Amino acid sequence: CSVNDTGFSFPVNCLDRHVHVAPDKVALIWEKDEPGEEVRVTYRELLELTCRLGNTLKRQGVKQGDRVTIYMPPCPLAVASMLACARIGAVHAVVFAGFSAESLADRIRDAQSETVITVNQGLRGGKVIELKKTVDQAVKQCPGVKRVLVHKQVLAQHKGGCETLRELLCSFLQEMMKEDTCCEPAVMDSEDMLFILYTSGSTGKPKGLVHTQAGYLLFAALTHKYVFDYQDRDIFGCVADIGWITGHTYVVYGPLCNGGTTVLFESTPVYPNPGNSLWAVPKRLRINQFYGAPTAIRLLLRYGNEWVKKYDRSSLKLLGSVGEPINREAWEWYFRVVGETRCPVVDTWWQTETGGICISPRPSNPGAEILPGMAMRPFFGISPCLLDDKGNILLKNNVSGALCISQAWPGMARTIYNDHKRFLETYLIPRPGFFFTGDGVYRTSEGYYQLTGRLDDVINISGHRLGTAEVENISHHVAVAESAVIGCPHEIKGEGKMLSFLGYTEETLSAELQELISKKMAKYAAPDYVQVTHQLPKTRSGKIMRRVLRKIVENKANELGDLTTLDDYEAVQQIITGHKHLVERQKDN
Ligand code: WTA
Repeated sequence: CSVNDTGFSFPVNCLDRHVHVAPDKVALIWEKDEPGEEVRVTYRELLELTCRLGNTLKRQGVKQGDRVTIYMPPCPLAVASMLACARIGAVHAVVFAGFSAESLADRIRDAQSETVITVNQGLRGGKVIELKKTVDQAVKQCPGVKRVLVHKQVLAQHKGGCETLRELLCSFLQEMMKEDTCCEPAVMDSEDMLFILYTSGSTGKPKGLVHTQAGYLLFAALTHKYVFDYQDRDIFGCVADIGWITGHTYVVYGPLCNGGTTVLFESTPVYPNPGNSLWAVPKRLRINQFYGAPTAIRLLLRYGNEWVKKYDRSSLKLLGSVGEPINREAWEWYFRVVGETRCPVVDTWWQTETGGICISPRPSNPGAEILPGMAMRPFFGISPCLLDDKGNILLKNNVSGALCISQAWPGMARTIYNDHKRFLETYLIPRPGFFFTGDGVYRTSEGYYQLTGRLDDVINISGHRLGTAEVENISHHVAVAESAVIGCPHEIKGEGKMLSFLGYTEETLSAELQELISKKMAKYAAPDYVQVTHQLPKTRSGKIMRRVLRKIVENKANELGDLTTLDDYEAVQQIITGHKHLVERQKDN
């Protein structure tokens, strides 16, 4: 298959160039739900698969610039589907396979996708997930969808078998196998769209952030190489789902552009038990860099050191953390127990919007210090700035402010799909002349950056972003007049969710709302606690003061801050009392 050398095309950088040099090098290791059932896919196989899929898409009528929604768990076919879109110049929009039919439908409609790619069933933590059924329900609400491509995965036959890609292809892709293994890569402009990825913002509607071709790939590849010190033969293990930006940049595009070997994790960190899943993998696959979320680290920490120590971790050279602030206890455990003080721990800060890592302890001068729980140093070309509420630049050290970035970088999102006004309003207008990240940061006296959390109404739950308004919008229940969703501290998930509701009994309402939100949005969005109140704290202009609720659940009722705009102080007193009762009942249970 010859490469068109007249223009720039994406998957050529991730596949063809490596196939020319080392066709049999393993590109993907699919660590399936059942431990020990890994599938290895070489660069040659991945290119063939991508080309066949690209030809299938073209034959079905998908054209350059069309959006294609991918609703699949992490697996080689999902990666090939992303790369096949890139190859023919279509724009992929991967939707996390844990989202409900309604959330999926919203995203399909927003992206104006005519094509959906899915798989009939998936497995996670030993449970079968009926993806096709969810897609069927979603598509009913999307009149614009013209075609749904379904990979058939026969799970029963797969158990214990299926070690080679060849067998997989036969069972999944009979149609596709008829297609040619050559698919001319589309010629794209550097600023053409590569993908849309949805993320939560502070309104009810998720934002479809747009990433483009050249800048994104450059940033993905550079950050992957330098932050993780990725070397040619290393095996890179990033435990993120491909439905999130971490999966896009550090499972798929970064490692593949660098010709690396990347691991796709299908399972959960504690299936079938807290050792056999995650900690057995570095030993079995000889993983060199391990990149995960603090929520998983905290969960595994709770199970104790024996599970970790049981397995040889000598292949590990570096450990990474992403998605939310990592607390000191988890950081120390990661560094001392998991990495045996041998592996640098990189706490990496970035966002869906930034495309790749922006602040991280590495790269740095050789041997430079790494302090626990801090992202510390900006990456090449990133210029962080701290601004106060009035937009003044804070130049000194030992200050806190809003984290902004003062110059453009290659990986930054270019717009919100079909809503450039919202892009400007969210990121560029709040602090004119700067990119506003929405995160708070502290610059230490040594000049290192330590992230302190979101400044807006976005909750970070197990490393996943959730807009409070999104959950409030779907909490329509006969007994609910209005609601306010806030994050509360959670030992494992970072933040849990708490809903405050008006007029119903707590126990029954709690169960009903948890079910409603799981169904309408996703399981991870369901609230941990529901508190019924007669009134919500509001300003005189009717805005809910979520920061007041936040202080109450953090047991800081004596630090409620400026209440001059509060409409009804009595309401706050009632919520404080109600919260005490809720906590007591939780303890009794
Ligand atoms: C948070 C994930 C503290 C932050 C890559 C950001 C972090 C949001 C860190 C982006 C970190 C991510 N320390 N907070 N190392 N990494 N965050 O878009 O609030 O899913 O704005 O991208 O996660 O989440 P997103």
